[in-house]
Amino acid sequence: MREGTAPLIQRLDYQQPPFWIRKVDLTFDLDPAKTIVTSKMQVERNRAVPHGPLRLHGEELNLLRVLINGAGVSFRQEGAELVIDNPPDEDFAFEIRNTTCPEKNTALSGLYTSGGSFFTQCEAEGFRRITYFLDRPDVMAVYTVTLRADKARFPILLANGNLVDSGDLDNGRHFAVWNDPFPKPSYLFAVVAGDLVAREQRVRTRAGKDHLLQVYVRRGDLEKTEHAMNSLIASMVWDEARFGLPLDLERFMVVGVSDFNMGAMENKGLNIFNTAALLASPATATDADFARIESIVAHEYFHNWTGNRVTCRDWFQLSLKEGLTVFRDQEFSMDMAGTPSARAVCRIQDVRQLRALQFPEDSGAMAHPVRPDSYSEINNFYTATVYEKGSEVVRMYQTLVGRTGFEAGMKLYFERHDGQAVTCDDFAQAIADANPDSPLTTRLDAFKRWYSQAGTPRVKAHGEHDAAARTYTLRLSQQTPATPGQTDKQPQVVPIVMGLLDRHGVALPLNANGDTEQVLVLDQAEQTVVFENIDSEPVPSLLRGFSAPVVLDDGLSDAALLVLMRHDSDPFNRWEAGQRLALNRILHALRAGQPLQLSNAFIEAMRGVLNHADLDPAFKELALTLPGEAYIAEQLDVVDPQAIHAAVMAAQQQLAAALRDDWIAAFEANQIAGGYTPDPVSSGKRALANLALSMLVLDAQATGDTVWPGKAYQRFKDASNMTDRLGALAALVNAGAELAAPALERFHALFKDDALVIDKWFSLQARAPEVDGRVFARAKALTKHADFTLKNPNRARSLLASLCMFNPAAFHRADAAGYVFWAEQVLAIDAINPQLASRVARAMDRWAVLAEPYRTAAREAVARVAAKPDLSTDVREIVERALA
Ligand code: PHE
Ligand code: ZN
Repeated sequence: MREGTAPLIQRLDYQQPPFWIRKVDLTFDLDPAKTIVTSKMQVERNRAVPHGPLRLHGEELNLLRVLINGAGVSFRQEGAELVIDNPPDEDFAFEIRNTTCPEKNTALSGLYTSGGSFFTQCEAEGFRRITYFLDRPDVMAVYTVTLRADKARFPILLANGNLVDSGDLDNGRHFAVWNDPFPKPSYLFAVVAGDLVAREQRVRTRAGKDHLLQVYVRRGDLEKTEHAMNSLIASMVWDEARFGLPLDLERFMVVGVSDFNMGAMENKGLNIFNTAALLASPATATDADFARIESIVAHEYFHNWTGNRVTCRDWFQLSLKEGLTVFRDQEFSMDMAGTPSARAVCRIQDVRQLRALQFPEDSGAMAHPVRPDSYSEINNFYTATVYEKGSEVVRMYQTLVGRTGFEAGMKLYFERHDGQAVTCDDFAQAIADANPDSPLTTRLDAFKRWYSQAGTPRVKAHGEHDAAARTYTLRLSQQTPATPGQTDKQPQVVPIVMGLLDRHGVALPLNANGDTEQVLVLDQAEQTVVFENIDSEPVPSLLRGFSAPVVLDDGLSDAALLVLMRHDSDPFNRWEAGQRLALNRILHALRAGQPLQLSNAFIEAMRGVLNHADLDPAFKELALTLPGEAYIAEQLDVVDPQAIHAAVMAAQQQLAAALRDDWIAAFEANQIAGGYTPDPVSSGKRALANLALSMLVLDAQATGDTVWPGKAYQRFKDASNMTDRLGALAALVNAGAELAAPALERFHALFKDDALVIDKWFSLQARAPEVDGRVFARAKALTKHADFTLKNPNRARSLLASLCMFNPAAFHRADAAGYVFWAEQVLAIDAINPQLASRVARAMDRWAVLAEPYRTAAREAVARVAAKPDLSTDVREIVERALA
């Protein structure tokens, strides 16, 4: 955020604050051009640390006055800090008055305006852009907030907690007073003021308490809030049932805002959401949107306990709340999905996400542990590692101590730490102490390496069958690659959920109890396990359910993978076997520099899945989708994005052609009569029908057939929901069909007033498979489109992140035009919104593994950005790490 070279903040430098702020009384005189903030704080010295001056954080503020115990006091401003050299020794009343300019706040951190209303975003360090404060998560205070504003323009005035007073003032102004009884860190503070409307629901919980739930949005969006409200209620019910965690507030509010840097924010009792993560109607949102909204509403709600009641001592502990809360929202989504198969679909989607985003992060310039050791800009550490790998770490606790053991550990965690700001060590200790005899507790120190070591461990497995001894010996080894600043790695504790199948697919007993599944705990660099009474060479099914965030090399033959794909009792590993078959083919072609040719065995296996009578459509869709280009790149030491893209396209063409009749059958068998509901069964059918349609249009492009493009266009026009409409549009656009252009035009005309749908329009075009540079040219031209703006993060991401981060073949060009474009855009965004700029900047994280000529050109582009003297610290940290 601040400009210039930023100091590196080190985890081990943590010290308690020299003062505590126990109570805050805030008054806002809201005006878009100049808002006056008056803060009255009750301050006391922290006697546990040496005497020192009182230093408050502040950014982009105009200071009007400073009073201690009602009298003026001498102070100085040192950089961004306000310093009082000689504060009283006894508790004192501290008053500050300052102004801010919300309408000029394009960084969207602190107090800003969006669509004519006021919103705040304080995590991680936005509160200091509202007023001077000890803006760190271990300083927890009780807040009372008075809002004053013009009543006609800002009829709704919201803050955390409970409404205690409201009324009219002179000059058409009015006021509201809110009190939040729970002490909280400043990052959970929020206010909202504007012309909003709310969907309301009163609920009574199991415990017999009544609550008022409200979802606030702009006028006109109310009918798109039903799904969010239902998701909120489902989240409340689930958290009470699964973890015994009830809602602790009378009122729980959720507010939507169009300009927002992230998905959503868990402010106490007043969650603020990116409208993209909140609003849904069948006509405007896809099944994926409905699912994402459910999980984000749940995520923010679950933070009320994991994040708010128990918060982080410092920002290095971010995964304490984020990893745990992602784990909780993933568990919730699985429980909501219901059937074992639908649960597996959730798990597969989560793992795909991890592999597409976190694995590359863990092997690139920004690789960092789940609990980072240093940062210069904390906003850069809201990462896939802290969130998604952090969630996998929490899942491993559950695997090691069992589900009830994990619930007992959570209970102990809250008994010990409710109301505190704590560390990842405190969490680990609570789970371990509640499960004294578990395989976690006996290896706790080693297990905690998951918090300190970056990099994705490589696990190798090799099995040998001894026919005479009737034994099967599994040799396991592990190694974690070096990452920036960490060369020597120690073995991790890797829970490997596994089973053995005979070659007909029958599960074999693993021990005298007859168990067919067990958890092996790999905690050495090399380890051997022997299974007795094994008559013939078995097929090992390892890492079931993706029981640890590692790359597994089990060296299985295609024949063995086919056995797993057909017969494994674990649906995740059935899916994984199919992916591995495809991956092996693709990697073989890439390494040999040969055109890709799918084997008959693979095609027949895929046909078998597609036509299977018992498999769910949702599972079929995942199984028939080829591994992503980013994940394929992860398997290679030198990455040629064009070669990878060509291989994937060839595989897709072959699957499209070879299974043509089966795709037709699948398309026809998965039509849904009747109204739209986003349940797992219907959304699975729609997903498979959309995949089939895209395959049929792709094949038609190759053969010159016009029937399927025509059908796709018709379906696009007639669709009664966004999933089908966008699916048909994507089929045309991704195949490069002639009808794509008129369909895109029609789509834009239909939805020109719905920003979230227009985002999809930009994104679809920027993500289309590259052919002869046309996609890149189109994306570049779209930056000049009347609807394009860098000021709205959703819009900027829909075009720029889509192109630079999710379309490698369009972005990585031999003429380096993609990199030149990237550099221009990063610099342009940086002047407006550094957090957003630094997200886009990360497209170059892995320049060092690129093949030439990409590598040299990419490095030059990064160096050009780094050479700019006035970069934000956000972007500076990213480009400097990239060049390090
Ligand atoms: N804490 C938010 C979440 O994960 C994410 C967020 C971080 C939002 C920083 C805004 C700013 O739910
Ligand atoms: Zn979160």
